[in-house]
Amino acid sequence: MVVAIDIDGDSIDHAQRTYPQVQFYACNVVDLGQLSLPSFDLACLFSSFYEFPDQQAALRVIRGVCRSGAHLSIFDYTQPEGGYLSAALSTEIGNPIVMETLIDWMKTEEWEVISVADVTDRFVRWYDALLYGFEKNQQAILTKFGRDWYNYVVSWYGELRNALATGHLGGSVIHATAAARQIPDG
Ligand SMILES: C[S@@+](CC[C@H](N)C(=O)[O-])C[C@H]1O[C@@H](n2cnc3c(N)ncnc32)[C@H](O)[C@@H]1O
Repeated sequence: MVVAIDIDGDSIDHAQRTYPQVQFYACNVVDLGQLSLPSFDLACLFSSFYEFPDQQAALRVIRGVCRSGAHLSIFDYTQPEGGYLSAALSTEIGNPIVMETLIDWMKTEEWEVISVADVTDRFVRWYDALLYGFEKNQQAILTKFGRDWYNYVVSWYGELRNALATGHLGGSVIHATAAARQIPDG
């Protein structure tokens, strides 16, 4: 059984229509336990952790719905400890992972980190491709969304790409497993 959640109801409605075989729920990650689902074998957070307001609580709740030995995969933005992000990225960039902090939280919330793969160079290439796509499809984007929107996305994703290329931001894939517990899994 594959279950997917997002806090945004419109995204969930669209996803449910597109992938009817998956069970989708509009749910805040910290309320995941309230769905009363069977324990998970694998939890995959794809480019969502950086948006969670309480990341440690999310790790705790996800551990609570996983069996011991279950896998956790987090694909997300990272930032150096004490680093500085361009104001132009504003609050849209959320809270990129600070690896030292994440590793502390993982220990506290009963996750064992197995590996951390730095994929920043690939993030840079993906955003280069996105920016190239904006340029190539400029006319269609202008017609559909207008000049202000076009300028905004080109400038915001350009800032994001530069932050990645200069080491102010990074991208990583973290693999962890759910540590065995003193008390049985719920
Ligand atoms: C960059 S999008 C990625 C969406 C999806 N994982 C994908 O790859 O297409 C980040 C998503 O995190 C969701 N999100 C933010 N805070 C959340 C929360 N507290 N609980 C669940 N989802 C959340 C947002 O609604 C948004 O759809």
